[in-house]
This record gives sequence, C-alpha cells and structure tokens, in this order.
Amino acid sequence: MKKEDLSNKFELFEVKPNPEQKLDFVKIFGNNNPVHLEIGSGRGEFLISKAMQNPDINYLAIELKEKRIKTILRQLDEEIHKNVKLIRLFVDEAVIGIIPQASLSMIYIIHPDPWPKKKHNRRRLIQQRFIDVLWQLLASNGKVFLSTDHSDYAAWIVDHFNRRNDFISIHEKGFSRTAPEDHIETHFEKMKKEEGFPPYFMAYRKKN
Ligand SMILES: C[S@@+](CC[C@H](N)C(=O)[O-])C[C@H]1O[C@@H](n2cnc3c(N)ncnc32)[C@H](O)[C@@H]1O
Repeated sequence: MKKEDLSNKFELFEVKPNPEQKLDFVKIFGNNNPVHLEIGSGRGEFLISKAMQNPDINYLAIELKEKRIKTILRQLDEEIHKNVKLIRLFVDEAVIGIIPQASLSMIYIIHPDPWPKKKHNRRRLIQQRFIDVLWQLLASNGKVFLSTDHSDYAAWIVDHFNRRNDFISIHEKGFSRTAPEDHIETHFEKMKKEEGFPPYFMAYRKKN
C-alpha cells in the first residue's frame, strides 16, 4: 500500500509555535479578521463546518493527538479553508506563552476529556488557573463556549465559573440542554446522545 503523504497539508495548515515568541495572527492568516480558537478539535467536524460558514473569521484549532491532526488535514483544502490553521499541542496554562493576550474573540471547548475518576479530576482542563488564562486570552466581550455530555463535569464547569466575577454566564441556570442555533454536532456528540448522554452547553462572556 502506498504511504500517505500529508507533508503538503502540514506545510499549508500547521503552525509550529515558537515558545520565545507569541503567534502573530495577521501574519499567520494574512488578514486581521477575528480569531476563534478551538481546543481539542478531535476529528475536526466542528472546526471545519464553522470555518466554512464564517469565511470572515479565522479559526485556530489546537489538538493533542497527531492521528486526529491528520484526520483534520485530510479534509482541508488550500482553496476552501484559507481561514483554518492547526497546532499540535497539549493545552494547559502555558498556552498563554504562545497566544497573545486579548487576541481571541471566541474560545470553543467542545467535549473536553471528562477525567471522571475523582483522583483524576485535577487533570481536567477547566481549573481556576486555566480560566484565568482564558480571561487573559479573550478580547473585550470575548466568549467561551463549552459543552460536555458528562453531568459531573458540567456541574464542575458551572461551579468553577460561578465562583468568579470576571465572567458572566449567558445561560441563567449556568447551562442549557438546548444547542445554540448555529451549533455543529460532532460524531462524538451524536454517539454520546445515542448512548443516552445528551450534552450540556455552557457559555460565558468576559467581563471587562
Ligand atoms: C472527547 S474528544 C472530543 C473531540 C471533539 N471536540 C468532538 O466533540 O468530537 C477530546 C479531544 O480533545 C483532545 N485533547 C484532550 N486534552 C487536550 C489538551 N490538553 N490539549 C489539546 N487537545 C486535547 C483529545 O485528543 C481529543 O481529540
């Protein structure tokens, strides 16, 4: 079997951050359109659909697993997806070292790994120090959108944001069981729904 060559796609769509220097989005995307970040893009369905629907928004996706990065790259086309870039990285608070402060108008965290065992809860992405970083990365009035099928993680997210006065929940109860009108259902979300775990949606606006 012929070995797949994705080198051209890596060249076109991958950004390799330099820890010494923050990303320059105007240089990376070739324009100064708003930038939306997705953390943990998986197979990329959400990212790619959003990017197609909103050509005047730049989408930066960060995904940890190379296999998933390749799955996304296979679907990307030089002519169609000019507003998409990918970074392979394990996201934690250190992401503040590569993304400029106040540079993002939206951050999507769709079905982050729930780390369900109590002893693993500290591995969850959503922690107070990480929310501090989200606040710093967001531009004025920027938003964070999160979803999870895991009820305990949903309660954890709501509780963590409730303790703060620098984010305002868009949902009165802290979450919604109804997807936003422009939501994109991923394969993962569909599978979890079919297993009997429909998603919780959380959304917060940065308070300046
Ligand atoms: C449960 S999957 C959900 C994928 C996708 N958002 C969806 O809804 O289909 C979580 C994804 O986040 C990635 N991931 C988990 N922790 C991460 C981290 N700290 N930084 C970057 N990606 C991460 C995993 O590799 C995986 O692709």
